Amino acid sequence: MLEKIEQLKREIEALTASTKEEVEELRIKYISKKGLVSQLFADFKNVPADRKKAVGQSINVLKNFALDKINSLKDTFENGEQKKSGQDLTMPGEPMRLGTRHPLSIVRNEIVDIFARLGFTVAEGPEIEDDWHVFSALNFPPEHPARDMQDTFFIQKDPDVLLRTHTSSVQARVMEKTQPPIRAIFPGRVFRNEAISARSHCIFHQIEGLYVDENVSFADLKQTLLYFSRELFGETTEIRLRPSYFPFTEPSAEMDVSCSICGGKGCNVCKYTGWLEILGCGMVDPNVLESCNIDSKKYTGFAFGMGIERITMLKYGIKDIRHFFENDVRFLRQFDSAY
Ligand code: PHE
Repeated sequence: MLEKIEQLKREIEALTASTKEEVEELRIKYISKKGLVSQLFADFKNVPADRKKAVGQSINVLKNFALDKINSLKDTFENGEQKKSGQDLTMPGEPMRLGTRHPLSIVRNEIVDIFARLGFTVAEGPEIEDDWHVFSALNFPPEHPARDMQDTFFIQKDPDVLLRTHTSSVQARVMEKTQPPIRAIFPGRVFRNEAISARSHCIFHQIEGLYVDENVSFADLKQTLLYFSRELFGETTEIRLRPSYFPFTEPSAEMDVSCSICGGKGCNVCKYTGWLEILGCGMVDPNVLESCNIDSKKYTGFAFGMGIERITMLKYGIKDIRHFFENDVRFLRQFDSAY
């Protein structure tokens, strides 16, 4: 009996038809009430009881197989020529949606572009750094709080290996390898052991800038930053520098731009001050130049560094830094730009 089923299956598998009528004939021959498959059910009575289960299953499988085969032959004719190839080639295609750039990439590219116009090149460095490039070469005293475990991610096995807390490490790397004139910017990801909230994250991005040459002055720094701010936030933007402290610059300053949202009149983004703080800057400390084998009697330089998330939030009015890292396309699709 099983052999008979198997043979019938092979026979059905090989069936072909070239007209609708032929399909109908095959249907009658195999699966109509008196067809060959149905006859198997009649023969089933004579199967010994202990084999009934196995044989019954095989007949059912065969029956479904035969039904599918006849139906698929039928389909070929019933739906005309197009169905024959299994595809309707006249159907419109499914549109493929293009992706959009991440807002952080857009703003980074925009900033890189502005400085490229001033002759700055781009350099990158490692995210996993050593103490020298992140702290020591940059004039951080050994007891400086930034070295503290609360700020920096260290590797347990080796205190000399850490995740960079700022892109100033690339400043040190570039100065070690190149003699002035140096004019470069360093975009990259940085890490700080901070609690994640709407305003801060343990991973974020910075762009650092460095200019070292003969006779570079604080006036050059100011003019460069004013040009940059007007390119990024609009022609009428004003800047203001406030004295500050960084171990690697002397003098140091923090820069505010006039609030691009209220135009300086005061709103809740600038906390009614009319100013937004966007970067730290200063003249490169002679100690740093010397650490990197640059003659501090001959050369001077300026440096500045800013957080890309903060600038992107200000530019687009984004209220929560966590949006950048959640990869929700409803958020990401809102940013479209030539950058
Ligand atoms: N590295 C500083 C920071 O992370 C920013 C900075 C860079 C300040 C260069 C001055 C000069 O906050």
